[in-house]
Amino acid sequence: MRQVTKRYYRGKRGEQIPVMAVDQIDLKIKPDEFLVITGRSGCGKTTLLNLIAGMARPSSGQVFVDDVDIWTLKDEEISGLRNLKMGFMFQVPSLIPTLTVLDNVAVPTMFAPKETQGDAYERARQALEAVGLSQQMDTFPRHLSSGEEKRVVIARALINKPRVLRLMSRQRISTSLLKRKSWPLSRKFTAVGRPSYW
Ligand SMILES: Nc1ncnc2c1ncn2[C@@H]1O[C@H](COP(=O)(O)OP(=O)(O)OP(=O)(O)O)[C@@H](O)[C@H]1O
Ligand SMILES: [Mg+2]
Repeated sequence: MRQVTKRYYRGKRGEQIPVMAVDQIDLKIKPDEFLVITGRSGCGKTTLLNLIAGMARPSSGQVFVDDVDIWTLKDEEISGLRNLKMGFMFQVPSLIPTLTVLDNVAVPTMFAPKETQGDAYERARQALEAVGLSQQMDTFPRHLSSGEEKRVVIARALINKPRVLRLMSRQRISTSLLKRKSWPLSRKFTAVGRPSYW
């Protein structure tokens, strides 16, 4: 991320009061690096996360993923990059209620190019096993506990082996879950980087 700035405008009709949410940030995130952004409310954490994950366009500056300046790409190329290189975990419930747990985890593969889909369901099964949910693959989301639901969301975010894994702010992924030895993700669970267990 090079000299990235994000400016919003607010105010009543006609007024355009600029708000500098992110101001000339230079940031390099290495593979396997786990980065936590903290700060007081309103200081720009969500905006910065959205910029890192290619969800928000900078007002100025450049954002690179694997050396590609993403905002020079065409719209559909950026969508493809988000699908293949980014893993998203949303704060709000985001599983599709009419799909089983296994189908939910496989959803991101459906938007990926055909040649990368290959063993999509095999990968979905592996991801669910990795988060300890091999028994619940054919269950529907409404029958899950909230912790189980979160683990499905983790599995779904990892299915395309993303380069960047974006956890929402205030997402309570408990540290005990991350530390659990039995969980293969635990040793090298990285918020940014390729999950190591693939
Ligand atoms: N869509 C928007 N339009 C105008 N101003 C915005 C918009 N989104 C955020 N802001 C402003 O930009 C600044 C940074 O907002 P941001 O949401 O990134 O903060 P944050 O650090 O995530 O805060 P919190 O901890 O409360 O979630 C704030 O002053 C906010 O009011
Ligand atoms: Mg926020």
